[in-house]
Amino acid sequence: MEDNETIRTIKNRRAIRDYITSKDVPDEIIYKIIEAGGYAPSAENQQPWRIIVVRDKELQEFIGQIAVDRTILLFGRATPREELERRLSYIRSKASLERTIDILISGARFEYIKGKPETNGAPVLLVLAVDQTHVGNSQPTLRGTGGVYGWSGPRHAVIAGSMLMQNMALAAASLGVGSCVSSVQLDHFDDVGAISEKLGIPYPHWVPILCLTLGYPIAERTLGPPRQGPEEIAFLNKWGEPFVKEGK
Ligand SMILES: Cc1cc2nc3c(=O)[nH]c(=O)nc-3n(C[C@H](O)[C@H](O)[C@H](O)COP(=O)(O)O)c2cc1C
Repeated sequence: MEDNETIRTIKNRRAIRDYITSKDVPDEIIYKIIEAGGYAPSAENQQPWRIIVVRDKELQEFIGQIAVDRTILLFGRATPREELERRLSYIRSKASLERTIDILISGARFEYIKGKPETNGAPVLLVLAVDQTHVGNSQPTLRGTGGVYGWSGPRHAVIAGSMLMQNMALAAASLGVGSCVSSVQLDHFDDVGAISEKLGIPYPHWVPILCLTLGYPIAERTLGPPRQGPEEIAFLNKWGEPFVKEGK
């Protein structure tokens, strides 16, 4: 069966980390991307999400520097080189592998968040915060009704927020806009607090969980890290039982 346009968009979307910094993404396009994001499913249609469109270069630099610093700690200090080589073993060319490792351990790979021309930075950064309270703060018709029945609010909020994120990344790809989901600057509680304060996010009720850079890619990129096929990730009826396509 041939892939249709939607499936082609899904398969061809790649994490873009090199942007034409001077080519802005118009508000109209950002609006369309966020609108598509909002069509994601959410438990009870709570829509437990808010997005801050960051265009201010100082704010981008602040968030980007946290990403760079954390990456240096994570890949430059805490992860042994053999482990990095093992993880990146899908990269065939030795020169590309060396370059990828270099930009990981030096943090250079995450400079793009700052939006600077010298590092091909993204002109726009979206910061996604989700409602961890689940008391209906985020959606007027449900306000004050949630939580009392013991629903798992925080987990649902993160799940729904992630679905919104993927919608936005795919909508962007369909419009020729490159994007990259990132979380390394929000993996540590201290960083979550600092970024919330800087952006005025009412933390801890609302928690920033992910960022999405947006911009026009310097080069088209459709090849990415390999994916496991359905035969590796799906089972039939019971864990461990192979799910094999009929006729195979
Ligand atoms: C939850 C999550 C966190 C991620 N964090 C980062 C990050 O901090 N920095 C980054 O550059 N990419 C980040 N990525 C992007 C992944 O590295 C990328 O999607 C993955 O390697 C697959 O590549 P592809 O998107 O090009 O197919 C993240 C993706 C997800 C879903």
